[in-house]
Amino acid sequence: MKLGDILEKSRAKDSSYIIRYIKWEDIDDLLQFANKLSREDTYVMLSGEEITRKQQVEYVANSISMMEKGEKIHLVVSSKGRIVGNAEVRPEERRRKHVGSVTIAIDKDHRGRGLGVKLLGHIIQEARKLGYRLLMISVFEINKAGIKAYENAGFVKYGLLPGALYYRGEYVNEVYYYCRLYESIGHVSNKEESPKKPKR
Ligand SMILES: CC(C)(COP(=O)(O)OP(=O)(O)OC[C@H]1O[C@@H](n2cnc3c(N)ncnc32)[C@H](O)[C@@H]1OP(=O)(O)O)[C@@H](O)C(=O)NCCC(=O)NCCS
Repeated sequence: MKLGDILEKSRAKDSSYIIRYIKWEDIDDLLQFANKLSREDTYVMLSGEEITRKQQVEYVANSISMMEKGEKIHLVVSSKGRIVGNAEVRPEERRRKHVGSVTIAIDKDHRGRGLGVKLLGHIIQEARKLGYRLLMISVFEINKAGIKAYENAGFVKYGLLPGALYYRGEYVNEVYYYCRLYESIGHVSNKEESPKKPKR
């Protein structure tokens, strides 16, 4: 992976976009993207608070440093030169180092056009290359588009935490999804698929 590496490009008239790794020059655009999402008060952890440029610089610096060590994946969707989507995979720790935790968001003006599923497809592909064996994602139970997008991308539901999320004056359920990157994970070992020395 190199910063800014392009994974997919569409030049279609009605939907021109690029899916790529982040680069340093994205800081200000990512800041705008994140603050728009926060103001929207949608199905993400940000709920109105404003992220400062200093926080964003620290965040991107940490992301890039982890990516350079082969630990993290941070992709964006760019359309007409603006960031309209973001997705990340962060590693869990210790005995769970082979498990990646996924987050994703698409700008509200670009939702429902298949970008979320496309971005998740690249997340899965890149995670496999880095040696991740399992991905997990959690979602507000009321987030029907999110649930559909994860299921379309191949994620499977495995649990529910009742009332785990406070959203617009109510406690809503959080549901959990996983995506197995190797069939052998969680099954009787399949020697052909399990590298002798896993990368993670
Ligand atoms: C969740 C999210 C990333 C999905 O991205 P997206 O680009 O909108 O998703 P896609 O267009 O690829 O797929 C959405 C699917 O949900 C379906 N959908 C949309 N609204 C729906 C609804 N209210 N009920 C059921 N399905 C719905 C779409 O029809 C589509 O399925 P289809 O392709 O089978 O028709 C995006 O909606 C988003 O960023 N939402 C706000 C933030 C968020 O929820 N982030 C995830 C936190 S876990």
